[in-house]
Amino acid sequence: MKTSVLITGSTSGIGQATALALAQQGWQVIVHGRREEACEEVVAMLIRQTNNSDIHYAVADLSDLAQVKRLADDAAIRFPSLKVLIHNAGTFSHSRMITEAGFERTWVVNYLARFALTKHLLHVLRRNSPARIIDVSGAYHAKGAIHFDDLSLAREYTLYRANNQAKLANVLWTYAQARALAGTAVTVNTLHPGAVNTGSILKSDGFSGFSKWMYRLLSPFLLTPAQGAEALVYLATAPELDGLSGKYFVKRKVSKSSKASYDVALQDRLWAISEQVLAAAAKQAASDEET
Ligand SMILES: NC(=O)c1ccc[n+]([C@@H]2O[C@H](COP(=O)([O-])OP(=O)(O)OC[C@H]3O[C@@H](n4cnc5c(N)ncnc54)[C@H](OP(=O)(O)O)[C@@H]3O)[C@@H](O)[C@H]2O)c1
Repeated sequence: MKTSVLITGSTSGIGQATALALAQQGWQVIVHGRREEACEEVVAMLIRQTNNSDIHYAVADLSDLAQVKRLADDAAIRFPSLKVLIHNAGTFSHSRMITEAGFERTWVVNYLARFALTKHLLHVLRRNSPARIIDVSGAYHAKGAIHFDDLSLAREYTLYRANNQAKLANVLWTYAQARALAGTAVTVNTLHPGAVNTGSILKSDGFSGFSKWMYRLLSPFLLTPAQGAEALVYLATAPELDGLSGKYFVKRKVSKSSKASYDVALQDRLWAISEQVLAAAAKQAASDEET
């Protein structure tokens, strides 16, 4: 049976390049995005370029935890042989955006949705184990802090504060999830893919003309999306990584993450808060359904 992978945020950039590489290797690939049209275009392109027709898509806006739950339930039914889950989708913004449920958007898309999607899909990965979870974090986690008293950054918001907080949360969560999965054949690792020219700064709001000009100037020195995808593909496929869990990679090399990321009390505190938020979201969804 083909290995099946779900890659969040694979309508562009590193996610799309990873989808292409795994489709070329004959995997069943589930493209994910928040816009149906973009997903359809990517699926058509992958089938055309690889001759692999086992390419599918699932749509969900990860800033909405109810959609994350639907994505997991839908994937569990449509793709029962799912074996690899790649958390890649990410966003950043100069303006502080608040979701309908009242969370700061970067926090939900880049971190909470990953926590939730894993929780809701773990039964499938366990059933198909050995299975792998790959969490795309980034080097900026080292500059981050978890602002437990103000996770939505109402008091002080900057793009970097929000992004770095979420990236640190990715690494903390990976280590906590690896501990929770110890003794099972489901592994979870996180990585910095390198500095990759995906044009995300050019697409994002609020960057000055000067920043965009600098980005264009530096672009030739950055990795291409295909080069950035190499590390994700390695973590998904390398036989020598069988059983290896709870590691931080820089590209393809196991590396040290920040001192804060190894703080088990911090990992556990983040985990407990994330569980509370999910429980509250589930309660809200149930009461919405009743009314
Ligand atoms: N590029 C780098 O140098 C670099 C370095 C370190 C880490 N990373 C990490 O690598 C990952 C991929 O980055 P990238 O550079 O490839 O970015 P990208 O090209 O902007 O791709 C981001 C993907 O996430 C999706 N996405 C954004 N918001 C979403 C939402 N609310 N719901 C569902 N999907 C959403 C995007 O879909 P839309 O097309 O609909 O927006 C897109 O498919 C991110 O986690 C990023 O933080 C990147």
